[in-house]
Amino acid sequence: MRPQVGIIGGGVMGTTHGKATHFCFKSGLIDGELVGIAEEDDARRESFAAASHARLVTANADELINSPEINTIYICTPTFNHLELARKVAAAGKALFCEKPLAFNATDAALMRDAAKAAGITHQVGLVMRFSPVVFVTRQLMQEEASGRPMTCVMIDDQFFPIQGHYQSTWRGDVTKVGAGTLLEHAIHDIDILLSYFGDVKRVYGTTSHFFGKEGVEDMSSAMLEFEIGAVVNHVSIWHNILHRGSSRRMHVVCENAQYSWEDDDYAGNIRCETNAAGRRTDIASKEVIERFANGLPIDDARLREHVIEHDLGQSYLLEDYTFLKAVSEDRQSWLDFDVAVKAHAVVDAIYESARTGQPVDMSAK
Ligand SMILES: NC(=O)c1ccc[n+]([C@@H]2O[C@H](COP(=O)([O-])OP(=O)(O)OC[C@H]3O[C@@H](n4cnc5c(N)ncnc54)[C@H](O)[C@@H]3O)[C@@H](O)[C@H]2O)c1
Repeated sequence: MRPQVGIIGGGVMGTTHGKATHFCFKSGLIDGELVGIAEEDDARRESFAAASHARLVTANADELINSPEINTIYICTPTFNHLELARKVAAAGKALFCEKPLAFNATDAALMRDAAKAAGITHQVGLVMRFSPVVFVTRQLMQEEASGRPMTCVMIDDQFFPIQGHYQSTWRGDVTKVGAGTLLEHAIHDIDILLSYFGDVKRVYGTTSHFFGKEGVEDMSSAMLEFEIGAVVNHVSIWHNILHRGSSRRMHVVCENAQYSWEDDDYAGNIRCETNAAGRRTDIASKEVIERFANGLPIDDARLREHVIEHDLGQSYLLEDYTFLKAVSEDRQSWLDFDVAVKAHAVVDAIYESARTGQPVDMSAK
């Protein structure tokens, strides 16, 4: 079907998806239109409406979901109302993009997946790091036969406590709105990446800390993940108070015959490689990372590939939205569906359970 889009939530992510969907339509990549915005805050609603020329502008999400002019909904609100809104969208039989995390836990995320599947709607989750060139190319390198079996990885993500600066909202400091802290709200991206690298998790040991004293909102989580294939991964996620630092990640993967690592630039940084095949250090420069990513993407449209360039983070959201809208226009499922998100949620839940009980959690028993 021809996507006729309504966006719920006109904050940071609603605006980002508004721009990316508009680009897809304006440039003719997708035949469709941005029709409406639902935003509770008056000033945000008006500025979104003025910039986007949306013709249905409302404070009431139900009005958007029930509009006959709209067949595709983006949920870009804080996590606490994703489940309720997603159920309404599924009941209305409309295509659904929902920002990550889908919900507060895997049980609610699975309810959303089941509702979407029962309704037969196209659905996609906003696990945008799947569209990061360094993440994508590191996966390709690990999968090369010459790398040998993946043995381990150390991954750290950090950002300042996101209730200040460019975030322009404080809901991430309120457990009733965010559900938990840095692991659920931010590092669910990392857990999804690790699942895409190493497969199913066998056992989890985790701890969480609350340095900044926000009840129920951890600002540090640390986990050891044992994977079914035998790899053991250490993951740390931090919300600190270093305000000049942008949100970033670093990763160091070790396979039997190769090591790959990147630091701080989680979009298009250089990848450091040391392989037996080369017998020395051979780094892949940012430009080549982008080139390999553009060539490896499952996207045929040359017009879009032209836009895959160095150091434009907005690119990931464009590729993400194109992937979703293309699936909607072809009446099929997206490969980044809610099933993918539910798997990441289950690992996040297990880390929290381990942190609560002080015991490892056996995931093969779940
Ligand atoms: N994928 C990513 O890279 C990424 C990055 C940031 C945030 N997120 C996710 O996106 C979602 C939104 O985060 P954000 O940073 O844009 O938050 P935000 O605070 O900037 O914007 C959320 C907006 O939703 C509005 N809203 C809330 N409930 C509403 C309702 N029922 N109807 C209409 N409007 C409503 C609020 O008024 C607010 O303007 C969260 O799930 C967050 O985890 C994803």
